[in-house]
Amino acid sequence: MISRETIDEIKNRLDIYDVVSDFVSLKKSGQNYKGLSPFNNEKTPSFFVVPAKGIFKDFSSGKGGDAFTFVMEHEKLSYTEAIRYLAKKYGIEIKEDHRSFETQEQQSERDSLYIFMNFAKEFYQNKLLHTDEGRSIGLSYFRERGFNDRTIEKFELGYALDGWENFSKEAIAKGYNQTLLEKTGLVVKKEDGSSYDRFRGRVIFPVHGLAGKVVAFGARMLGKDKNQPKYINSPETDIYHKSDVLYGLYQAKNAIRQHDVCYLVEGYTDVISMHQADVENVVASSGTALTENQIKLICRFTENITVLFDGDTAGIKAALRGIDMILRGGLNVRVLLFPDGEDPDSFSRKVGTAGFQKYLKEHTQDFVSFKAGLYAKEAAGDPLRKAESIKEIVSSIALIPDPIKRSVYIQETSTLLKISEQVLLAELNKVLIQERRKNEKEKLRAQDVSEPLVPIEDIGSPFKADPLSQIYYQEQETIRLLLNYADQDVEGYKLADFIVHELDDVEFTNEVFKEIYVQFKSAAGRQQPITSQFFLNQENDALKAAVSNLITTRYDISPHWKDKYHIFVPQEKDVLNEMALANVLRLKFRIVQKMMEDNLQQIKQAEEAGNWELLERTLETQTGLKKAESELAGSLGIVIAK
Ligand code: CTP
Ligand code: MN
Repeated sequence: MISRETIDEIKNRLDIYDVVSDFVSLKKSGQNYKGLSPFNNEKTPSFFVVPAKGIFKDFSSGKGGDAFTFVMEHEKLSYTEAIRYLAKKYGIEIKEDHRSFETQEQQSERDSLYIFMNFAKEFYQNKLLHTDEGRSIGLSYFRERGFNDRTIEKFELGYALDGWENFSKEAIAKGYNQTLLEKTGLVVKKEDGSSYDRFRGRVIFPVHGLAGKVVAFGARMLGKDKNQPKYINSPETDIYHKSDVLYGLYQAKNAIRQHDVCYLVEGYTDVISMHQADVENVVASSGTALTENQIKLICRFTENITVLFDGDTAGIKAALRGIDMILRGGLNVRVLLFPDGEDPDSFSRKVGTAGFQKYLKEHTQDFVSFKAGLYAKEAAGDPLRKAESIKEIVSSIALIPDPIKRSVYIQETSTLLKISEQVLLAELNKVLIQERRKNEKEKLRAQDVSEPLVPIEDIGSPFKADPLSQIYYQEQETIRLLLNYADQDVEGYKLADFIVHELDDVEFTNEVFKEIYVQFKSAAGRQQPITSQFFLNQENDALKAAVSNLITTRYDISPHWKDKYHIFVPQEKDVLNEMALANVLRLKFRIVQKMMEDNLQQIKQAEEAGNWELLERTLETQTGLKKAESELAGSLGIVIAK
């Protein structure tokens, strides 16, 4: 148990901006900060940090809380782990209360995996630096590659001794159990029940998670044995999902934010060599194409990515395909080609720090222009090749989510390939509309087979009912809550403030309700919220009628239930939290549905008129609305199910 004082000291010392910005790139917005949600894939920022209150709020996922919550959610840590993480960050010594001592078995599974991986990392580091074999084989290998002490320390490099049981013996002696050894994949179990160390006679590259914990290892062989794989890597575990991790990101994240660009290379040694050339904003994909989650990771720190290619031209076109995924992610992609036969590792050592940095600066090219240039050369004087090239380039441009960027690229391609913009645009629109139609169809199909979207009856059944009347009902319910419970406590706010905050600029459709809501809104944040009496004193008759209607309780619960039968029937004011939240969500849900109906009309019109631009825009809107709808439905399900 960590002592109260330690926790208090961390609380006093920490700064939520500081904590969050280790993971999310934040921009100042008034008194607060905002950025892209780290919990959802989004293009417009809806993640806020409020330093004055020490909290964050993520409107896209609904998550929110203080710095501890953030670290727990983001790094998937337990409360205790989050405390330890923050204590380490702020250099605060942890004092324990020994009243209830946690044994290893009681700690969560993940806890023990992390602890064990850390033990393994230290084991390999130790062998590299403090054994004869480690020094003469492992360390001298790193030296040969030009890695200095600082680098070896920074990347926590290690060495696995050449033997079948060096690691497992020591782990067992230290009290770690056999299951754990096998779970992390560091020890491999054979069919006959015996087991052996996975890494033997190899140099070790630990792979770190975003918070700096080791989640996996890559182990490179020494020398050139054709019968062995060059690298042996950790298998997937509960704490290691290969497609969610980028090698070097932990060491690179501050530099990426600082330079606002991330270099992407292939391998461990490329990352490390670039650090030695003082280029620290670099990550490796570990020899495969980037995954969507890896791109999301990069997006947290920058929108700009520069892909570094080895200089062998045969592979270039294949490699270019891998970039399509990054374009789709909305990142600005640049590329850099090394001279023939060189990779970042060899080239940086050849030309040195200054030469390397100069080369990066002078040879970085915009991706689309690079691709267009590449094809322009081939297509010169060959009409067939030219048509092929146009398709190829336009298909990349079509992946870029931002229409403004797309049009800039169309202009550039037009110049480079000497083709009119009109032709390129026509081709682009063809691709775009095909894509959209395909997406829409896929979504519909996905919905057909899925569970009914909304698990509660009064949302589920009138799905197709007139959205207007549904909105009316929901607006009325909002006003009823406001009139009856304005100053009751909900989620630490007064109900009126809570609702106004959540609904913010929502326009009520019914005139009377709108009038009432606007008055609540302008009174928000006051010590004394306005009461129903305040409305009853006003002149507007329709308003008065509505108010008096809504403040009379619909039904009273018989006192017998409580007095005679000792059955507690919750009254509205006992469940206000849920009611207020559900109400807000329902109203938004209805509004989104109405917007979808309206937008659908627009899509139809655009299609009939052949207005591609409008069609594109409205399809995009529909997708966004659908997403909002299912998110709201999801949240409603959670609230109701509670
Ligand atoms: N890789 C792997 N398994 C292999 C070969 C490669 O997992 N058998 C991954 C590693 O993550 C490696 C990356 O692909 O870092 C790039 O491969 P390569 O360029 O061959 O490795 P480098 O790390 O650059 O090593 P070196 O410079 O020593 O060749
Ligand atoms: Mn390499």
